[in-house]
Amino acid sequence: MKALVLSGGSGTRLRPFSHSMPKQLIPIVNKPVLEHVLGNIRDLGVTEVGIVVGSWAAEIAEVVGDGSRLGIRVTYLPQEQPLGLAHCVSLARTFLGDDDFVMYLGDNMLPEGIAQAADEFRAQRPAAAVVVHQVADPRAFGVVELEPDGTVARLVEKPPHPRSNLALIGVYFFTPAIHEAVRSIKPSARGELEITDALQWLVENGFRIKADEYRGYWKDTGQAADILDCNERLLADLRPGNLGSVDAASQLGDRVRIEAGARIVRSRIDSPAVIGAGTVIEDCHIGPNTSIGSGCTLRATRVRDSIVMDGAEIAHGPGLRNSLIGRNAVIGAGLAGAACHTLVVGDHTRIRVAA
Ligand code: TTP
Repeated sequence: MKALVLSGGSGTRLRPFSHSMPKQLIPIVNKPVLEHVLGNIRDLGVTEVGIVVGSWAAEIAEVVGDGSRLGIRVTYLPQEQPLGLAHCVSLARTFLGDDDFVMYLGDNMLPEGIAQAADEFRAQRPAAAVVVHQVADPRAFGVVELEPDGTVARLVEKPPHPRSNLALIGVYFFTPAIHEAVRSIKPSARGELEITDALQWLVENGFRIKADEYRGYWKDTGQAADILDCNERLLADLRPGNLGSVDAASQLGDRVRIEAGARIVRSRIDSPAVIGAGTVIEDCHIGPNTSIGSGCTLRATRVRDSIVMDGAEIAHGPGLRNSLIGRNAVIGAGLAGAACHTLVVGDHTRIRVAA
């Protein structure tokens, strides 16, 4: 079996971050989402991985390289325009050959892994298998209706009146039967070749599709609030450790990880939290539920329930909560005694300051 990981797309829901980095490289517990995804794929014993990349191809290749660091072999598959998930299958035709493959959206987190669904697909080998998850409001998803024996009866994209609460969540297993389906469908109203249409084509042409329910934690990390939620969930399983230095005046909670060369001075770090390599924290109160990247400097500030990305500097600022701070961002206090804020704010940025 091969893997096809989709890491192109436009990321409009994650502006302004997606103006300066691909959303698949957003760090969750200091590791890019895409690396979490590739780890789940390697755990299936799948090592031949095609990654579909768009305009951020160079940035993704810089982090993932040839995949050897992650125990996989990566082939990059450029996509000029985000023309849909089924378009990704068609552009990967040569890479995929006549092998079965798992298709995985590069911005979806399934920390409990997909081994069970993969085992069932390998054992039963239906034409396709989709991983589904029960959601409270299925109207925003591709929704799967099942026969009593668990085969897929129908797939409907974003139905106004859903007849099931089982949503497609970004992991699909395919036999080569999918290629004929992808060739047979036309672009949807939004101009994309939809994978739900290709799956529905298989159903209507007598192919069997199985659904496997994933019961663990799942997040599409397409929006800032989801990224913070996912960070909090993964920090709950953090392995603590201290590879940096912590002075006698600092206090660390019991589930804190300090990465190599980080320095904690006169600060309190509440569990769970991770402090990245080479970061300096002085006179701060950090955590809980906080990931600070590498090479950051934080002085005299309070940060909780947040992600601070590599190279950011925060000094004497107001306390931060539920915040996503981009790479090399600088946050500082205004002039002493000044009653106003000074902000340099990019397009689509969201800011909430204390009244
Ligand atoms: P989406 O999140 O559905 O689309 P998007 O990346 O364009 O984001 P937004 O809705 O915020 O504008 O894409 C799911 C995953 O598939 C994501 O990792 C990007 C990837 N993708 C491609 O690689 N090529 C495509 O043509 C599309 C539509 C998505």
